[in-house]
Amino acid sequence: MALKKRLVVLASGRGSNFCAISDAINKKIIPNAEIAALISNKRTASVLNEAKLRNIPSLIIESKLFRTSVGFDRQSYEIKLLELLKELKPDLILLAGYMLVLGKTIVNSFPNKILNIHPSLLPKYRGLHAQRQAIENGDTHTGCTVHWVTEGLDEGNPVLQASVPIFPGDTESTLSERLLPVEHKTYIEAVNIVLKKMV
Ligand code: GRF
Repeated sequence: MALKKRLVVLASGRGSNFCAISDAINKKIIPNAEIAALISNKRTASVLNEAKLRNIPSLIIESKLFRTSVGFDRQSYEIKLLELLKELKPDLILLAGYMLVLGKTIVNSFPNKILNIHPSLLPKYRGLHAQRQAIENGDTHTGCTVHWVTEGLDEGNPVLQASVPIFPGDTESTLSERLLPVEHKTYIEAVNIVLKKMV
């Protein structure tokens, strides 16, 4: 049997995408893979509890410790993160609600190995509050995109997209709630597409 593909998930918050992927691995919907570790930049992120419940090792590099008087010291933060990632030897890195932009230190070290999920039909509505942006623009549908991570924010090539309707009266919260299960399904499918192409 081939060696299991090693996934490393980076997340900052709730962790529903992390849970969906972990559960899909356990049910063999994603076959022959394991989450080698979860890395979070926030000590209080509830995704850390989810990892504990699932016996998945978690590691924390607190990004707030890298704040300086002139802003976030991304370079030093990423050097630390890179050390950790190199030790973990991931086949694929999954950003799942990871609220920091990755710079070239990380992106250039793992070409074609980092995926992200974004809650819009990219290239529409990059950045924060993508669901709100779709409502404010009067769109009748939006969706999610799993894409390769490049240095540009939410800019890399898409692997998979899925859409959901926007109904009159939708708020950012009702729309996000409708989209979330679709995100989970799309991320699982995208991971399978990518892993199948790996030799
Ligand atoms: C999701 O909406 C994802 O698309 C975005 O951040 C949110 C993370 O949610 N990048 P969760 O932490 O996976 O529940």
